[in-house]
Amino acid sequence: MSENRSEKILLKALRGRKAERVPFWFMRQAGRYLPEYRALRIAKGSFLNLALNPSSAAEATLQPIRRFGMDGAIIFSDILMLPYGLGQELDFREGEGPVLGDLAVSALSFDDFEKRLEPVFEALSKVREQLKKENFNDTALIGFAGGPWTVACYMIEGKGGTGFPRAVAQAQQGDENFRALIDLLTEATTRYLLAQVEAGAEALQIFESWAGLLQGKNFEDFIITPTRKIITAVKRKYPDIPVIGFPRGAGDLYLYYAERAGADVISFDQHVEISWIKACMPRKIPVQGNLDPALLKAGGESLENAAKTILAGFSGRSHIFNLGHGIDKNTPLENMELLCRVIRDFNP
Ligand code: CP3
Repeated sequence: MSENRSEKILLKALRGRKAERVPFWFMRQAGRYLPEYRALRIAKGSFLNLALNPSSAAEATLQPIRRFGMDGAIIFSDILMLPYGLGQELDFREGEGPVLGDLAVSALSFDDFEKRLEPVFEALSKVREQLKKENFNDTALIGFAGGPWTVACYMIEGKGGTGFPRAVAQAQQGDENFRALIDLLTEATTRYLLAQVEAGAEALQIFESWAGLLQGKNFEDFIITPTRKIITAVKRKYPDIPVIGFPRGAGDLYLYYAERAGADVISFDQHVEISWIKACMPRKIPVQGNLDPALLKAGGESLENAAKTILAGFSGRSHIFNLGHGIDKNTPLENMELLCRVIRDFNP
């Protein structure tokens, strides 16, 4: 199938059109569960060295595709590249996760933004070229960014975690500095995603991994409004590029997000029941998800049954198979093989 003659299966499903089978890709499909990734990571010394080297980042992006032939290749990068582009110090420490320098919102700047992020754009172009060269003509390239709220969590806290108490407090107080940060991140994310499309991304995902920490007016002001602004700006320039929204942990607010944030496709975490999605989500909205990564790690019959339940549950509507969150680093390769086979063999 030549790239021009026929629309890629993932893009069809993301646009709500009928696809030949259920397309699939997995969050964190490039990463430490792959021996070839671990080798590349050791060779490059650090995660940042790997991610900021266009050839290596392209290689890491392609590794899972060569093994499993996913329908989507997500660019190997990180949501924290955005603060890096704005000049905040960023490091990833072994066993500790991300560490960011002290945040001064007034010191963040667009002066070197595109230049600092150029390796990401170059990696996207390389992956597009390489997919063609290696005959993965039906695999679509996915670009991504974190949602402004989620990125702000890390920028304010200075490190990873789960509760982000300082960021939550600033949101609840409606702090001026915090509002300024969200506005700046909204503009930066828009520019970042547009540049990714220019470099070759064919679809985009916005990871709002900490959506579950906000409710009510804060959910509206710091998640819905910024996301809608970003997607509106992207769509003004690239109306045909599908945008996937992933408000992880949003619970019942998933529906509000689906109706208001402007995303074409909604990605569900594993805590949302299929029956709720079927009952509440308008049928015309394509859905992505939502296998529990713990079941993928466990494998066997429980994995096979859970995957089949999801496939059957979403049959009759546009569905992109994915996990509810990223692949666990201790996931056995044979479980990946099993899951890919179950998805490919499914006949709706
Ligand atoms: O394959 C893919 O999905 C593409 C690459 C990708 C990475 N991070 C690579 C990565 C993507 C899409 C992300 C998104 C990301 N990064 C999110 C949103 C999704 C989510 O998980 O909720 C978040 C919150 C981050 C921030 C981040 N990056 C943390 C908290 C950590 C440390 C935790 C960990 O798993 O080590 C990272 C590091 C990171 N990003 C790694 C990878 C492969 C591991 C680093 C390594 O190889 O040592």
